[in-house]
Amino acid sequence: MSGHGTPIPMTSRPCGPLKGEAIVPGDKSISHRSLILGALAVGETKISGLLEGEDVLDTAKAMRAFGADVVDHGGGEWSVFGVGVGGFAEPDQVIDCGNSGTGVRLIMGCMATTGITATFTGDASLNKRPMARVTDPIALFGAQSVGRSEGRLPMTIVGAKDPVPVRYTTPMPSAQVKSAVLLAGLNAPGQTVVIEKEATRDHTERMLTGFGAEVSVRDTEEGREITLTGQPELQAQVIAVPRDPSSAAFPVCAALITPGSDVLVPNIGLNPTRAGLFTTLQEMGADLTFENQREEGGEPVADLRAKFSPDLKGIEVDPARAASMIDEYPVVSVVASFAQGDTVMKGVKELRVKESDRIDAMAKGLRANGVEVDEGDDWWIVKGLGHGNVPGGGTCESQLDHRIAMSFMVMGMATQKPVSVDDGGPIATSFPIFETLMDQLGARIVRSNA
Ligand code: S3P
Repeated sequence: MSGHGTPIPMTSRPCGPLKGEAIVPGDKSISHRSLILGALAVGETKISGLLEGEDVLDTAKAMRAFGADVVDHGGGEWSVFGVGVGGFAEPDQVIDCGNSGTGVRLIMGCMATTGITATFTGDASLNKRPMARVTDPIALFGAQSVGRSEGRLPMTIVGAKDPVPVRYTTPMPSAQVKSAVLLAGLNAPGQTVVIEKEATRDHTERMLTGFGAEVSVRDTEEGREITLTGQPELQAQVIAVPRDPSSAAFPVCAALITPGSDVLVPNIGLNPTRAGLFTTLQEMGADLTFENQREEGGEPVADLRAKFSPDLKGIEVDPARAASMIDEYPVVSVVASFAQGDTVMKGVKELRVKESDRIDAMAKGLRANGVEVDEGDDWWIVKGLGHGNVPGGGTCESQLDHRIAMSFMVMGMATQKPVSVDDGGPIATSFPIFETLMDQLGARIVRSNA
């Protein structure tokens, strides 16, 4: 698990054009959910294209600990033999979710209404992150929890023996919180309702429907209202995991800022609740096109083509789009450094409670590389220097955050001097083939300082 190993310093040197195809791994959100819903279904769920990053592997281990049979056939092909809704067994060890907020929060939701007790922990990053956002709503179902101060892991959850259904409005835009409540609602009688003021990624709703649960969604004055009928029998599924738009973001953004580049990133899931980055980049003047647009497994998919874009301009990113690109702000801030003028990002408080405080981590690293950044509690502004003018030469702290490490490696491809990170180890949580893939395109990433 990340954060447990020896730091891996990495340096990215300015490089020539990036060319070729970037085959990025499976979607992290859908991979976690495939394993979890597979574990709650009856029969064999067959998964292809599973992301085999540390985060998802930790979820696979956790599903085994709760009694599901999870089989790795190799090459991203997996089977999960589920225990059925309400069928989780009590784990006899602490569940270590490593670096993964999605893993721990979704799993807490699943076991909260099953009358068993489980203790959760994670790495140094995860153990700092807020869990009250899940323990508050699961308490309404009747679950109890005891953790460290301010609701931090390690934490023990005592599941509700006689759960009641819940109606809950999420206090922050969070797909993890919404999903935890819906997964808890699976084993409660009656209807559980979640209302979100802003739409967040909807994979849980879509996949629950696919597994045979009764889920209805409607827009109301209060927001997007999702109603789940409890205690369904989930039917095992065959799932082809689409490729991750959040991973595609790195080769796409690298191509936009590196002179002469032309990169094709095939088969990317473009669920509208995930695709905000691409609209933002186009508004900034990116030469980014969607080829071969189609539907696969109920999700829109396309091949992305990104070419060097010398005339990028700073924009004010529409805050209404924040949830649909929440994981992409770090790499957008890198692109913004190479744009002319200011890029203003508002309504992004959630960035402060990700694997790191992402505004702080990016601001410090950008400044170390000669880019000015202003920041407040829920906003930041990157003062773009224009193509060819970004100095680089700095070493950045990745703060146990994969997306911070990858963003600075992208930056170093087009700065005047190389860019380093103190630890690229966390990249393995979501994109284990990042270095190889970027090298094949023409990047110059090495495992050392400068
Ligand atoms: C995720 C939801 C988002 C995102 C995370 C994955 C998910 O977190 O940042 O990488 O799969 O549900 P929040 O729900 O905290 O916004």
